[in-house]
Amino acid sequence: MAFTIKKICCIGAGYVGGPTMSVIAQQCPDIQITLVDMNTERIAAWNDPDLDLLPIYEPGLSDIVAEARGRNLFFSTNVEKAIDEADMIFISVNTPTKNYGKGKGMAADLKYIELCARQIADVATSDKIVVEKSTLPVRTAAALKSILHNTGSSVNFHILSNPEFLAEGTAVQDLLNPDRVLIGGEHKEAIQALVDIYARWVDRDRILTTNLWSSELSKLTANAFLAQRVSSINSISELCEKTGADVQEVAKAIGMDTRIGSKFLKASVGFGGSCFQKDILNLVYIARSYNLQEVADYWEQVILMNNHQKQRFADNIIQTLFNTVNGKKIAILGWAFKKDTNDTRESAAIYVADHLLNEQADIFVYDPKVPAEKVFVDLDYLNSRPDAETRRLVSVSEDPYEACKDAHAIAILTEWDEFKTYDWSRIKSNMKSPSFIFDGRKLLDRTQLEELGFVYYAIGE
Ligand code: NAD
Ligand code: UGA
Repeated sequence: MAFTIKKICCIGAGYVGGPTMSVIAQQCPDIQITLVDMNTERIAAWNDPDLDLLPIYEPGLSDIVAEARGRNLFFSTNVEKAIDEADMIFISVNTPTKNYGKGKGMAADLKYIELCARQIADVATSDKIVVEKSTLPVRTAAALKSILHNTGSSVNFHILSNPEFLAEGTAVQDLLNPDRVLIGGEHKEAIQALVDIYARWVDRDRILTTNLWSSELSKLTANAFLAQRVSSINSISELCEKTGADVQEVAKAIGMDTRIGSKFLKASVGFGGSCFQKDILNLVYIARSYNLQEVADYWEQVILMNNHQKQRFADNIIQTLFNTVNGKKIAILGWAFKKDTNDTRESAAIYVADHLLNEQADIFVYDPKVPAEKVFVDLDYLNSRPDAETRRLVSVSEDPYEACKDAHAIAILTEWDEFKTYDWSRIKSNMKSPSFIFDGRKLLDRTQLEELGFVYYAIGE
């Protein structure tokens, strides 16, 4: 029997749920979509008439929300009502690395997923298609099934896996024009119902259907492969710095080989974001749980290389500043884990700053989209020192020129375009001499900066 989808509920109005449902609502005006979240502040922000106050900064998103909100896109904290009314329920809640008990520091914490499944089981009075949108360990659908199929009621649940591949900063474009949409499942009509939704704007040959387990595992594998490319080029960046090779030239030379391809070969201070590390740790944990030690060790190296890259970037600052940064002002330009997002989760900036703070540096942070509170929350979360000490050593400025004034060194940790357009001559004249720049993104122009009198270091040069 074919399914007719009139109402969709999405549990979790975060970086994935928010943009994904906004785009589905825009493309399918006849489907009513309710995004629910237990975080009342987040829902209030999604409902704020001032679109600049949406909880997520993502280019192009506010226009889509403006178009669909109140028409067929709604944001609510009433999770139960939205579940009950929906024909299809997306679960898009967070799946962070576990920070307690078995699998601590490695496994994905599935408590939020399980809570959703139990809530759906408790509330549903009609048949539902339940879609895993969150990134989950392979075989999670089996656990969901056992919760949903043992309610004692006559309600039928069909579980699909539909992992999301959007990247932050380009989420809207990625959703409107995805390389592929992946749908895993067992029930043909349920799969078809979701295919039909995406087919409104995605070519059918880009909509891939697989079994549940391939779909779940493909998501972890995709992130592992992407992160592995970054760690691979970052490992070569260190060799470039020793040998006179230039990592940008090497990346271009290898990337022109169509078998390798040019994307994800940008050397950096290390990858960040909420998912690469979490998903690889999870992959390593799963491999170990099947006693596949070589597989686990192979992927773990991607994380170890990334940790090394962040550490050596900070070490280089300390060594170059005559082996001490104690009491020296260091300006950090960029706190987000990449440009065009206000997300700072696992940002390399946090770890570089923490390392410099261990050496008693005075840190001044500027980021165009990250508020001061967030910087402090990120540092406090590491628990490296008393919160009061962090506040004594760290300042956040809303003005980049202010952040750089009287600094001994500037570290560029996010590739925000605006950094390229600054008046670097003005910055130089207000800094201490020698004036160091450590470019963790190879964003700026060496010749221009050296002419202005800066001492310029870039990753991989
Ligand atoms: P997020 O933390 O931004 O959003 C998750 C939201 O779920 C939070 O607002 C939280 O309050 C809410 N939530 C948790 N449990 C709930 C419950 N029981 N009831 C109601 N609300 C609940 O996370 P995110 O970045 O959107 O990631 C969500 C999932 O998508 C993760 O599994 C992640 O790995 C995956 N993913 C993320 C990205 C990305 O770019 N951020 C991309 C692809 C996949
Ligand atoms: C990544 C994937 O690209 C998405 O496909 C996936 O859906 C998402 O993770 C997820 O599952 O969360 P995202 O983390 O938002 O997306 O951003 P990326 O563009 O992948 O960048 C991740 C990190 O790698 C950033 O810190 C970025 O600066 C760094 N990076 C990326 C490099 O250092 N070099 C590169 O060449 C590319």
